[in-house]
Amino acid sequence: MLLRAQKTIKASAFNTYWMLEKQHIVSMRDFTREDVTFILDYAERMFPFARTGIELLQHKILALLFFEPSTRTQLSFDSAMKRLGGSTLSLSSEDSSILKGETITDTVKVVEGYADAIVLRHSREGAARMASEISNVPIINAGDGAGHHPTQTLLDLYTIRRESHLENLDIALLGDLKYGRTAHSLAYALNMFDANIALVAPDGLQMPSHIVDTLDSVTVTDNIDDVIHEVDVLYVTRIQKERFPDPNEYLRVAKSYRIYRSMLQGARDDLIILHPLPRVDEIATDVDQTKHAKYFQQAFYGIPVRMALLSIVMDKLL
Ligand code: CP
Repeated sequence: MLLRAQKTIKASAFNTYWMLEKQHIVSMRDFTREDVTFILDYAERMFPFARTGIELLQHKILALLFFEPSTRTQLSFDSAMKRLGGSTLSLSSEDSSILKGETITDTVKVVEGYADAIVLRHSREGAARMASEISNVPIINAGDGAGHHPTQTLLDLYTIRRESHLENLDIALLGDLKYGRTAHSLAYALNMFDANIALVAPDGLQMPSHIVDTLDSVTVTDNIDDVIHEVDVLYVTRIQKERFPDPNEYLRVAKSYRIYRSMLQGARDDLIILHPLPRVDEIATDVDQTKHAKYFQQAFYGIPVRMALLSIVMDKLL
């Protein structure tokens, strides 16, 4: 269990909480439902400070090691750290000694001397787990290949709880469920909350069976029309072009699904549509103006959630 270090009772804000001590955030599988609920509640406490800031992590430094492209995860961690009064160091593969052949292991061992926590995005599945085994400061997985993206999942859950509900949830995950790490992490987490999950993917891009087999209430289909009128949340993902070993295989499935405004007729009135972004063409822009579209709000919620996580891993609680 991730939040295993120290079970502490704090008299003030919470009845019970788990304080992390040099702990890592690698996979949703390391969390319990109780852990997740604590983090979401704590993110709610951070929410008022997501724009104004709060001096909680002065003199703390966060290293952002992004060896794959990112807009939201990198900038929102950067913003979250600065909103907490801390500072950041950034490194990408283009401007690091990785280009000279330095290993990720050596890079982490060096950067742990420069920062109080490390956010790592890497193309190799398992990279964050490996880094967590050798690092003396917390490693936060910002996406490891087609593996996991736990902080995205926590902000997805936060969005669902704020904009819809987590109890008795009917949700469809649509898109590239084979390579989409956000969908993998989210499926594990939703199962903790007893959600009814519809997995909707083109032929060849369904969720790996080792994940499907862990889900308690699941429907598998290739047709969004089967489920779009029966869900509270439609979670859309892009096809992960960069993960296809064979470009022809990508071309076979490219543009195989797209959500249009007209498809939402007959949907539940309070349906919300989420997307981890970036969007390519899987949601038509005319959906953006509907009351259902919550994906830009979802991206903003990355700030309070990541403020909460940084505060927890750096052991400076509000
Ligand atoms: N959702 C997400 O991970 O976006 P970025 O790739 O832009 O960080």
